[in-house]
Amino acid sequence: MTLYLIVGLPGAGKTTRAKELEVSESALRLTPDDWQRAIFCDDSPTRWRSSERVDHRERIEGKLVEVGMRAAQLGVDVVLDFGLWGRDERSALRSIAASLGIVAQVVYLPIDYAEQRRRVTSRYASEPGQFQMDDTELEGWHGVFQVPDEDELSGAPIPPVPPGHRTWSHWASTRWPSLPEL
Ligand SMILES: Nc1ncnc2c1ncn2[C@@H]1O[C@H](COP(=O)(O)OP(=O)(O)OP(=O)(O)O)[C@@H](O)[C@H]1O
Ligand SMILES: [Mg+2]
Repeated sequence: MTLYLIVGLPGAGKTTRAKELEVSESALRLTPDDWQRAIFCDDSPTRWRSSERVDHRERIEGKLVEVGMRAAQLGVDVVLDFGLWGRDERSALRSIAASLGIVAQVVYLPIDYAEQRRRVTSRYASEPGQFQMDDTELEGWHGVFQVPDEDELSGAPIPPVPPGHRTWSHWASTRWPSLPEL
């Protein structure tokens, strides 16, 4: 089975692509934004930035990784519509997938700042339930986001586990505290 790792900044078109894969591949789409908005439906549009909500978000993502890996083991293609800004996050998920006999595929959606700003602004105007982001944040995130390299896009061997971690699965259970070691 294939685990699609959707990578990109806000407004890059991740959920749009994830929904296409959901149909074309009959895949299970796991979009943490949907879960966060459903569970914390009374949040203000900027509340998602709070440290408490960031912690909740990581817990939601951890359980979605767990259920996604299980579903792929059971024979379903899975789309993780997460963003996955960090190379280590992608390496960890690729490694866990490989250990479970699942093929991971990084799907990268690049976006420049001007187009991103246009899309996020128009989406927020038409769907006020979306998370609010200001221009300074959007611009700053381009400096934080780690663009996937050719090795990741082609499914080349996964880099070594960072120091202090036994396995990539151990790293992942630290990154996503609700995710057990798989
Ligand atoms: N290829 C595209 N060309 C033009 N507009 C697009 C494209 N893909 C998506 N959009 C539009 O851009 C907006 C953002 O798309 P989408 O919600 O898929 O992005 P996202 O990466 O999931 O964002 P977020 O990280 O905030 O969830 C939407 O209004 C969508 O219709
Ligand atoms: Mg989205």
